Amino acid sequence: MSEQLLGIPPRGLPISARAPGKCIVFGEHAVVHGAPELVFAIDLTTQLFVTAGEATRLNADLEATRRNAYFRSALDLVWKDRSPVEVRSVSRIPKAAGLGSSAAFVAAFVAALSSATGGVDRPTLAQRSFEVERGAQGVGSPGDTSTVVAGGFVAINGGPGEPLWSIRSPDRRWEVRRVSDPGWVWVVAYTGIPRSTADAVRAVGARLAAPGGPELLEEFRRVATEGIDAVGRGDRSAVGELLVRNQELLREVGVSHPRLEALLEAAKPAALGSKLTGAGAGGSVVALPVPGKEAELVRRLARAGGLPFVVRPVPEGAVLVES
Ligand code: PMV
Repeated sequence: MSEQLLGIPPRGLPISARAPGKCIVFGEHAVVHGAPELVFAIDLTTQLFVTAGEATRLNADLEATRRNAYFRSALDLVWKDRSPVEVRSVSRIPKAAGLGSSAAFVAAFVAALSSATGGVDRPTLAQRSFEVERGAQGVGSPGDTSTVVAGGFVAINGGPGEPLWSIRSPDRRWEVRRVSDPGWVWVVAYTGIPRSTADAVRAVGARLAAPGGPELLEEFRRVATEGIDAVGRGDRSAVGELLVRNQELLREVGVSHPRLEALLEAAKPAALGSKLTGAGAGGSVVALPVPGKEAELVRRLARAGGLPFVVRPVPEGAVLVES
């Protein structure tokens, strides 16, 4: 197993851990129903500081276990009946933007708590992080949590890459594999419209269960499979075309939004392709720049009202931060 995929070692509190956000390239929503997905970890992170305290608090909030379902769900799974912890969280990932702020929080928190309870191997960290996120959201796939635990590019249910682990829910199993990073720069732009992942996932689930749904799911599967293949052989223009096709499918299942469409339109002259990324219905778009037009793409997205970020895939997943 490569260096980045070593487990989380045992430590005593205080413990600090961090995890990256993520960007979904192909296959969101369909992955919940078993289709392939391609995701990479981004160079924006969340860092947590966990210490023993007199009461359990998150960023000084005594009500956090009631208010924050991810916080509660992690404590329930990994820290049941243990002494109180004070947690501080510092994040550069915009919230509810489709960039993995909740997955990063969950993976960093589960890594820290698991370290304090004897350490954990990475496949188990990925499984626990999925269960915590699913416990909080009620629905979803392990795509986000496995990516931020693994770092780098990850394919769920697809591709020929090295198998990392499989993740189980009561009714499904997802295979997680490594995909090599083609070394491109990507641009993400946030609409500024937050949204609920769970609501979007439920609405798409209903659409895919309605007449014509299975054919749509098949098309999602085809696009993601070809997309993983195109990234694997470094074929930028094929990836661009498949991004556009994936967006048509996402539009068809009802998770686009006029503000997303405005950003996608603005990106066109400087991008090989673009689509929404994450749950949609707000959130962000991801675009693959025409080489040499990265700065123009950023300007276009900003002028169209988006908050752009140049994102680079990072190889490092969730880790302890040594003090
Ligand atoms: O809301 P986000 O950005 O975490 O993206 C969720 C991706 C979905 O496929 C819509 C849901 C999931 O759990 O895979």
